[in-house]
Amino acid sequence: MSYKFLQNLPLFGELEEAEQIEIWTHVITRSYKKANIILFEEDPGDSLFIIKEGKVKITRLSEGGKEVILSILGEGEFFGEMSLLDGESRSANVIALSDCEVFVLKRDKFLDILKTSPQIAITLLEELAHRIRMSDQQIEYLSLADAENRVAMTILRIAEESGTFKMGQVSIAELPMQQDMANMSGTSRETISRVLSDFTEKGYIDRKGKKLIILDYERFKSDFSKSL
Ligand code: CMP
Repeated sequence: MSYKFLQNLPLFGELEEAEQIEIWTHVITRSYKKANIILFEEDPGDSLFIIKEGKVKITRLSEGGKEVILSILGEGEFFGEMSLLDGESRSANVIALSDCEVFVLKRDKFLDILKTSPQIAITLLEELAHRIRMSDQQIEYLSLADAENRVAMTILRIAEESGTFKMGQVSIAELPMQQDMANMSGTSRETISRVLSDFTEKGYIDRKGKKLIILDYERFKSDFSKSL
């Protein structure tokens, strides 16, 4: 693995090669097994993480100890920036959804880079704005009474974040596990299973193993986002 990996990352891709080489000397790699906890909510934060391989979920626990999934992040995406920026403790748990390899950059180095590179600061702000937008949508759809609508909105979110759009259809290569979808939608695994079967019967989606295809994205979106 060389510094060239940084060239493919939204956060560091725009930097001069010399700067990438310099940053690379401060990066360490860590591996986590599926289901390992990478960060604990409330721990102090002193480093930024960038996903080299795998997927993680960002979670918090509700009063009753139920897991709520705020987001799922994949290759090339970063986490752990919030406590570096505001000096507070970690805002959420981060758990490996698959075996993961991550790059870790210490706080001081990351803040130095931010000070010298306005482009990185802008990319970071763009991503933070995107995450607030997603969270706003999630707050809105979790308030919907109807579980079917909440599940539909979760599928749309996954489609927008990781789907492949082609000729009006969207293909999601690997749908999260049903329990994780339930924890994103504020419902139960049984409801996810029932609603997915129902959507298949109604011709909204098609499923093969972990793959899900939204057969007519515009129709699916307009039938369900109008409930917001
Ligand atoms: P930090 O608070 O340092 O540690 C937990 C990390 O989870 C946090 O930084 C963010 O990187 C990430 N995180 C927290 N809330 C969200 C969210 N709503 N969407 C995406 N990522 C989040």
